[in-house]
Amino acid sequence: MQRVEKEIARLIQEIDYDEVTKLFSTLSGGKRLRAKLILKIAPNHKDAPLLAAIVELIHGASLLHDDVIDDAMTRRGVVSVNASSGSKIAVMLGDILYSKAFTELVAFDKDVAQTVASSVTALSKGEMMDVKMAETFNSDEKLYLDMLYLKTATLIEAAAKASALLVGKDAEKHALYGRNLGLSFQIIDDILDITASEEVLGKPAMNDFVEGKCTLPYIYLYEELNTEDKERFVSFHAKEISKDDTLWIKEKMQEHKTIEKSFELAQKLSNEAQAAMSEDAELVLILETMIKRTF
Ligand code: IPE
Ligand code: IPE
Ligand code: MG
Ligand code: MG
Repeated sequence: MQRVEKEIARLIQEIDYDEVTKLFSTLSGGKRLRAKLILKIAPNHKDAPLLAAIVELIHGASLLHDDVIDDAMTRRGVVSVNASSGSKIAVMLGDILYSKAFTELVAFDKDVAQTVASSVTALSKGEMMDVKMAETFNSDEKLYLDMLYLKTATLIEAAAKASALLVGKDAEKHALYGRNLGLSFQIIDDILDITASEEVLGKPAMNDFVEGKCTLPYIYLYEELNTEDKERFVSFHAKEISKDDTLWIKEKMQEHKTIEKSFELAQKLSNEAQAAMSEDAELVLILETMIKRTF
């Protein structure tokens, strides 16, 4: 991973703007899941650290824009760039990271470059769908999962597929692994929004529903409630609600085991990914660590 951090630092230096270097340093605390994946799949390829750095720049850019979209005040345990320096700066820093990533990507084989670049279109479509869907209460599980695939899974899928292409491994199998890892990763993320604390998450807890996002535990809850409770539940959508009402939602979720149900789907997707990659112990370990994560 040190090789990746070195590549990231080099690319940022090349942008040659102190303001960018300074702001980017506040973004250094990520899990680097996508980079780790690339190094595991293509450990001996000379360009793997660069590809991993490119994907982490893309991911960083998407988070900068995401925090503007979501009005998020914290990211990776520190004040978000939009909160510290304003949305204009956050948007432009995102653009700089995206375009630097694309500039570096053109030196790769066309299939590798295309895989990663097209995933950014998908990711951005997913972010737009996420915003549109939060405008009204959504109880459609399929629609929700389609959006998750675009928003989160496509970049992870692309990281796995592109690194497989780099070393001539089975691209489709690795793509399936990445897709399911990504979906299950986002479902865990949605669960943690409900079950974990702000200190642990490095971002506000129980915030998705306030933002209008009906994630899986909420969709499953809606399916289970009686008409009267459904009405009460929907009236809380996209609002700051009282502690008592938050507690009511949590109790109902417990009663109907909607967190457990969501976790089961994450587990099922993860098992499918595991089956596709059973001969690769390290990739299986990434899945297991991801599903057991607490932040
Ligand atoms: C956060 O991704 C955004 C999602 C797609 C859920 P990560 O959880 O991988 O974020 P970092 O890189 O570790 O901060
Ligand atoms: C993650 O979206 C950002 C991207 C995938 C681009 P979310 O808004 O769901 O994630 P967090 O909670 O801010 O990390
Ligand atoms: Mg967000
Ligand atoms: Mg978002």
